[in-house]
Amino acid sequence: MQPKGRPLLSILVLVSFSSLFLLFSYRSSSSSFRSSISLSPTSNPNSRFTFIIKVLTYDRIASLRRCLRSLAAADYAGDRVHLHVLVDHFRVANGSSDSTVDSQLEESRQILDLVDRIGWPHGEKIVHYRTANVGLQAQWLEAWWPSSDDEFAFVVEDDLELSPLYYKFLKGLILKYYYDPANFDPSIYGASLQRPRFVAGKHGNRLQLDNETRIFLYQLVGTWGQLLFPKPWKEFRLWYDENKTKGIKPFLQGMVTTGWYKRFGERIWTPWFIKFIHSRGYYNIYTNFNRERALSISHRDAGVNYGKTIGPDSSLLEDEPLDFNLLELPPLRNLKWYDFCFAETFPGRVAGSFDELRSIVHSMKQNKLVVISLYQTTEKIARNLICNLEKDGLLNVVFVGGDTELLLDLARRGYGVIDSNKLISSFGHDKSMDLQHEADFVRETWVKASIIQKCLEFGYDTWLIDGNMIPNGGSLPELPNSSCNLAVAKDVELLFVKSRPSSLKIWNSEYVHKMATASKFLLANNSQLMRDESFMHLIAMTLGEKERFDHSSIGLKLGDATPKPSESKANIIFWDRQMTTASVQVELERFGMWLIDAESSCTSVVCRR
Ligand SMILES: *[C@@H]1O[C@H](CO)[C@@H](O)[C@H](O)[C@H]1NC(C)=O
Ligand SMILES: *[C@@H]1O[C@H](CO)[C@@H](O)[C@H](O)[C@H]1NC(C)=O
Ligand SMILES: *[C@@H]1O[C@H](CO)[C@@H](O)[C@H](O)[C@H]1NC(C)=O
Ligand SMILES: *[C@@H]1O[C@H](CO)[C@@H](O)[C@H](O)[C@H]1NC(C)=O
Ligand SMILES: *[C@@H]1O[C@H](CO)[C@@H](O)[C@H](O)[C@H]1NC(C)=O
Repeated sequence: MQPKGRPLLSILVLVSFSSLFLLFSYRSSSSSFRSSISLSPTSNPNSRFTFIIKVLTYDRIASLRRCLRSLAAADYAGDRVHLHVLVDHFRVANGSSDSTVDSQLEESRQILDLVDRIGWPHGEKIVHYRTANVGLQAQWLEAWWPSSDDEFAFVVEDDLELSPLYYKFLKGLILKYYYDPANFDPSIYGASLQRPRFVAGKHGNRLQLDNETRIFLYQLVGTWGQLLFPKPWKEFRLWYDENKTKGIKPFLQGMVTTGWYKRFGERIWTPWFIKFIHSRGYYNIYTNFNRERALSISHRDAGVNYGKTIGPDSSLLEDEPLDFNLLELPPLRNLKWYDFCFAETFPGRVAGSFDELRSIVHSMKQNKLVVISLYQTTEKIARNLICNLEKDGLLNVVFVGGDTELLLDLARRGYGVIDSNKLISSFGHDKSMDLQHEADFVRETWVKASIIQKCLEFGYDTWLIDGNMIPNGGSLPELPNSSCNLAVAKDVELLFVKSRPSSLKIWNSEYVHKMATASKFLLANNSQLMRDESFMHLIAMTLGEKERFDHSSIGLKLGDATPKPSESKANIIFWDRQMTTASVQVELERFGMWLIDAESSCTSVVCRR
């Protein structure tokens, strides 16, 4: 992410990178097993497979020469690989003397001459020489519009140097993680060959990784040798078009790159891409070869006229023999995923059976569990709730609801979810009741009641809360009386059950059936009023009066008499399901709890230690 060719820009960014570099004296490993590259990916997945190198250059001829030489010397295993060189024009400064302009013209001629003379036997070579200076953002963004889903672009800035092995590795990676359906994931937007270095959500702190992880996924784009997959890149270009044209700024609070944007504005492109990736929940593939090695290194050259060169950020992975097998790519399911905080995420946890639910809740390594019901929640409200949970660090949650598409998206983003339709079809009948053909309300009741039953059985104290509430500060109210096992709120769906033998005796499969049957009666009697109170009402009907929270201790209800935010120390903010999303938004904004933007993405990245 290094803007180039502009004095102020280069110096500032180089300074910040040099300080990062000092911090990054990464200790190396000395793993000793030896093996050589065995796989030569010569067969193309299909006849349209196209690989294009996009070299972005400006005014650094020596850097460009080194870069092109390394590209030309790489092993392409006989594949046709195209080279596109995008030469930005120099800037004509106001009041430049003729001699300055003459030397700039001469420099440009030399660069074009170099590009013309470089032999490229591997495929087409195309040179795009700009008529005016466009800067780094346009150089990147205009570098590519994929002409098919089988076209891949590898973007290389001119102060990079590539390992001779880089193409073989990328080809293997494309075959494995793009063309092999068993290892493909649409959330992956490409691969970076640079050594992973910093955590964008933590002030750019040095990234720490264990020695064993060779390939992993991380949300951050790496601009020193980035392979782009066609579909996400097209999607990004369209997103950028719309948002930029409408005057949106790519602000994402908590990210070091947002600070860069505030300083450099439209001269850099990464804040836009990062904002897009964050809103979509996409990931990039990275390598970790230990001992500061990488397949692409940046020499971090200063602009020709300014500052000093810092030198390579890593050491180039040289030709074989290596101390590991470069082309041994683990199955996707074995890779670790890291978000912008470099915290591990666990995408794809969807429970379609109680066994799967067990493994999801076990993976949370907590003794309390929060089940959040999104049955009566709009998507915006749900996404805003999630931003609040992320901010407050309440992460031992599992979502259940009726909108399968939303739930699967949450799972893709790393949340545990329950697919209630699958749960029901895997379970089938509950006694005489054919769950598959019951009304939604009955199915919903059965699903909630059985989730609680199972979680208690698994040994977890369990909360069930509605999506139309937000735990304030990440905590939920404690039981008013610690010797009681079950607490229910009155007008709001909130329930807490302790996993004790006595509560397991009450909340057993008989009871689940009783709840479902009661919901059927309620529905048959067409009591809309009761339906709205739903689950808590059913508990009261079937269990009788038990320990209850009173309203004041549960939290604060939004509405006519909502107090000023400063007066509220409530642990929970909640509202009527009938309240419109727009008025919920207005009220929550007063509390600083409306944390999504127009696209329903969180406005900040909040990292915890
Ligand atoms: C990585 O390996 C090296 C050498 O084997 C060792 O000194 C270092 O502590 C390891 N680092 C981590 C994070 O495991
Ligand atoms: C260049 O100079 C002209 C005349 O002095 C002025 O009008 C113009 O704004 C200047 N342009 C830039 C980019 O500074
Ligand atoms: C940004 O672009 C996306 C995709 O084109 C669009 O869905 C979204 O509404 C845009 N955001 C705003 C605030 O216009
Ligand atoms: C808590 O509940 C138990 C059993 O219902 C009761 O005996 C006890 O007095 C209660 N304690 C308080 C502080 O209310
Ligand atoms: C619903 O109606 C049935 C019979 O029609 C009655 O037995 C039952 O008590 C009613 N339930 C409720 C919740 O009103």
